[in-house]
Parts: sequence; structure tokens; C-alpha cells
Amino acid sequence: MTRSVEHADDGSGSDDGHLADGGHRVAAVVVAAGSGARLGADVPKALVRVAGRPLVAHAVRGLTESGVGAVVVVAPAERLEEVRASLAEAVSDGEVVGDPAVVSAARSGAEPGVHAEEKLSARGDVRPWVRVVAGGESRQASVAAGLAALAELPETAVVLVHDAARCFAPPAMIRRVIDAVRAGHGAVIPALPVADSLVIAPGDAVEDYVDRARLRIVQTPQGFSRDVLVRAHAAAPPAHESTAATDDAQLAAAVGETVWTVPGDDAAMKITTPRDLAVARALFGAR
Ligand code: CTP
Ligand code: MG
Repeated sequence: MTRSVEHADDGSGSDDGHLADGGHRVAAVVVAAGSGARLGADVPKALVRVAGRPLVAHAVRGLTESGVGAVVVVAPAERLEEVRASLAEAVSDGEVVGDPAVVSAARSGAEPGVHAEEKLSARGDVRPWVRVVAGGESRQASVAAGLAALAELPETAVVLVHDAARCFAPPAMIRRVIDAVRAGHGAVIPALPVADSLVIAPGDAVEDYVDRARLRIVQTPQGFSRDVLVRAHAAAPPAHESTAATDDAQLAAAVGETVWTVPGDDAAMKITTPRDLAVARALFGAR
């Protein structure tokens, strides 16, 4: 079941990072391991550049600007170093790590109850911790790989799952998702109303009309309490590209969790085709 979260959207959201978030530590999994077949570029989609920066770097920045302090980026196995390098540049006051030993070393000196890798930057905000791991055959498998990497951060209570392909999701929208999970909703999706008329037409003839007022377009990041997401993925059937879930909230619904909506945003458009990329460059190319 999907319900809408009532909230007063003053656009400010929670800008306190996850240092002062009442124990609801927020981490994100950014899936960026797809090949981008429909885009047809000469590099994997997440490495395609807009405004001089790869899509995956825009995605991570959007999350860190929203106060997310820990991000696992799931990348194509043969591109891990390239992705790490582009993120180190984009998140220049943060820490991009690949080797778990680095993380354990950092953790050993940390205060209990604080994300070990989290430090304050000179500007006084959260210095993000970013880890890059290899993805799987399907999006679902890639999310599972990212979730497994979060085992290193047991304090994490809220997990966002985000598509690198929706890298221009605005921080105000990301904060709406975080706030709804913090408020106690176990599974939250950003959703938009449908502008077009919709029909059911499995062949050439129209079989039925659909009441579009009841329908919503689903975006990412989707937010979950950590245990809900872990339970949902544990119960999901094995992922093959053709049968895997394209959406994590669907897996949460399958284990009985109510899925809640918050208002999405046109800027969180998914870059799928060359036309989408042209639109993104026109809208966000000046960044
Ligand atoms: N994704 C992933 N691992 C996969 C497949 C997809 O991490 N095995 C990620 C993509 O990198 C993307 C998001 O899931 O950020 C949404 O997938 P989609 O837009 O379909 O990207 P691609 O699968 O790369 O594109 P295509 O289907 O056109 O090949
Ligand atoms: Mg795909």
C-alpha cells in the first residue's frame, strides 16, 4: 500500500547533517553500476559528464549537500578506480576509501556512537565518507552489494537508495525523504503526479483507460529504515536483469511494509536516453 506523508514543506528540511540527527544516522547507496545501453555513450552512464563532472559525482554531491554523511557508491567492477578518482575530486573535503583496512584504522580511534569516518570540515559541516564497491548483474543485485558494504557502519539507522542516473535530485527533495523516514515511516518514495493520459493497450487496440489522478511517477532517492531495507532485500527473489525489482520500495511492500510518498521533483528526472542527457545538459550544464 502507498500513502502520502503529511508534511509542512518550508524548503528548509533538516540541514543538521547526521551529527545532530537524534541518533537517526543517514547513509546512502548510490547505484551506478549499469552500462547505460539505452544512452549508448562510450563509457558507462554514471561516468558520462555534465558540466565537467560525471553523473555519479553529481549524485554524491547532492546527497552530501543534503546532510548525508556516508555514501556507498556501487560502480562497474572494471571502473572502480576511475569512479574513486572522480569522487575524490567532487567531494574534495571528504574521504573516499576503497580498502576496508583504511576504514577499520579510522574507526579504532573514534568516539563510541559516532560514525568513525565522519569529521567536521573547516566549514563546520559533515565531511562525507564515501566508499566505492563493485556492482552486480541487475540494479537489485547492485543495491544488495551496497547494502552489504553498509555493514561497516552499524550506527546507520536510515538508508537512502539513489540512482546515479537521477543525479540532479534537489537537496530539498532528498531532505523530505530523510525527514519522513526519521518521522517513523519505514519506506518512503518521492512521487509525482502524471501529466499524460494513460491507457492499457497490450496490443494495438486500447483495452482500458486508467484514472491518472490515482497514479504517481516514482523517483529516487527512496528512503528506508535500515532494518526494513535489509529485510526487504533478504526476502527478494534472486536478481536477474529481466526479473529483478527496479524499485526498492516494491521489495519493502512485498514484505508487508506500507510505502509512503513525499512530493518528488522534476529535477530528479532519470537520464536514460540521449534526449534525456541533452535535457539535463540544457538544464544543469552551467553547474
Ligand atoms: N544499475 C546498477 N547495476 C546494474 C544496473 C543498473 O547499479 N546492474 C544502476 C544504474 O547505474 C542506474 C540505476 O541503476 O544508476 C538505474 O538503472 P538504469 O537507468 O536502467 O541504468 P542502466 O541499467 O545503466 O541503463 P540501461 O538499462 O539503458 O542499460
Ligand atoms: Mg537498466
